[in-house]
Amino acid sequence: MKENKVVFECSKCGFQSPKWLGRCPDCGNWNTFTQQSVSPVKPTASVVASTGKVASLDSIEVDAEYRFSSGLSEFDRVLGGGIVKASSVLLGGEPGIGKSTLMLQVLSSLKDKKALYVSGEESAQQIKQRSMRLGLEVKDIDVFCETSLENILHAIQTTKPQILVIDSLQTVTSPSVGAVIGSASHIKACAFELINECKSQGCTVFFIGHVTKEGLLAGPKVIEHLVDTVLYFEEGASSLRLIRAAKNRFGSVDEIGFFLMEDKGLTPVKDPSGFFLCQREEGPIPAGIAFSAVSEGTRVFLVEIQALVVASKSAYGRIFAERMDNARVSRIAAVLERHGGIQLADKDIYINLAGGIRVSDVAMDLALALAIWSAVAQRSLPQKTASFGELSLAGEVRPVGLAQRRMKAVKEMGFVACAASPQTPKETGVKLISCSSIQDALKILKFS
Ligand code: TYD
Ligand code: MG
Repeated sequence: MKENKVVFECSKCGFQSPKWLGRCPDCGNWNTFTQQSVSPVKPTASVVASTGKVASLDSIEVDAEYRFSSGLSEFDRVLGGGIVKASSVLLGGEPGIGKSTLMLQVLSSLKDKKALYVSGEESAQQIKQRSMRLGLEVKDIDVFCETSLENILHAIQTTKPQILVIDSLQTVTSPSVGAVIGSASHIKACAFELINECKSQGCTVFFIGHVTKEGLLAGPKVIEHLVDTVLYFEEGASSLRLIRAAKNRFGSVDEIGFFLMEDKGLTPVKDPSGFFLCQREEGPIPAGIAFSAVSEGTRVFLVEIQALVVASKSAYGRIFAERMDNARVSRIAAVLERHGGIQLADKDIYINLAGGIRVSDVAMDLALALAIWSAVAQRSLPQKTASFGELSLAGEVRPVGLAQRRMKAVKEMGFVACAASPQTPKETGVKLISCSSIQDALKILKFS
């Protein structure tokens, strides 16, 4: 048999190379390569003994308990309608954001489900104290403070939980896994063993994974392809918390779950509209501010867009937009240069969304253009007026989906008028400012 081979592996993304590299060609990080030894692969027979059998899809029976509620409506929403039996979920987020709190709340609110909470980070006492502070029912929850993969597998086999939480995946280690402890390969191998064991028992597993400041899941990023669902916990303004799905084999990835972190833990927020609008005194709004009705998943809510445009401090203009794609701001700036008659090439453009949310809905284009125009002209948009619509490169305002629901959301948040494409429904209780192009919108809003 051949001797162990040496490979170099990126500790951030798991990319492997036969030579040491200063910069990872896959994820772009520097100085992340560490040496690993790989055991030679044992020869296997060409047909492995299989426990499954070929069957007609028609004859497959679906388990009535296939999907069940987590007890937290917003968590069910991001999971695609509840927890799927025997699935695997990765929950990533920065330390202190509320991952352990959320999972403990979920385990407590699950009805008639046996749960096992494995913690490599906190003692059983600390977990108990948290549950007492949160006032949780913990009758069906077992805790196991352990980091050894073998001991955890043994506990799963003996206690037979229906839900397993691993808090966190980075703490699980095994001497029998060939790779260096803490390396991407090691984390991957441990997760693989745990997923296999849980799948064979019909148990759902939640892996908690820490995200580093740069937004990368340190280590656990490499298990994204192993699990069925990947969820990311994000922080909004003050105590607002958001959960987004980055991958979901059992549902849409557009849905966002909203929670508030309060004294009694996380509470689901059904209607998040008010969180993304700043409270202001009556009177004109400042220049550079526009409002839009956006949709993420099945939900529609209002957001406040803030723009600041100043002379560039470098040779060419730059865009600073943390909450949305820079390319989209560039595109809207280009449309405004060509069809709105303003110069932006030598300007720095700063864009922010109130409440700390990131939005990808194209319906925000029109409001984004109006906010930039208002910032350049130093003139406020009319009061209590929102807008939505996609902007084409030719400067046309294109209709967007869910127009009726957007108008309803606009009305509910106290706006009286809304600029949108002429195809938008009119009988909504909000005055429709019908515009077919950005020039139209600027003219009607008395900007040009
Ligand atoms: P935690 O769930 O421990 O975060 P993670 O597991 O993601 O590291 O949450 C810790 C934070 O949440 C901590 O800063 C305190 C806060 N918190 C509340 O505000 N209210 C509560 O009821 C609890 C339990 C925590
Ligand atoms: Mg924790």
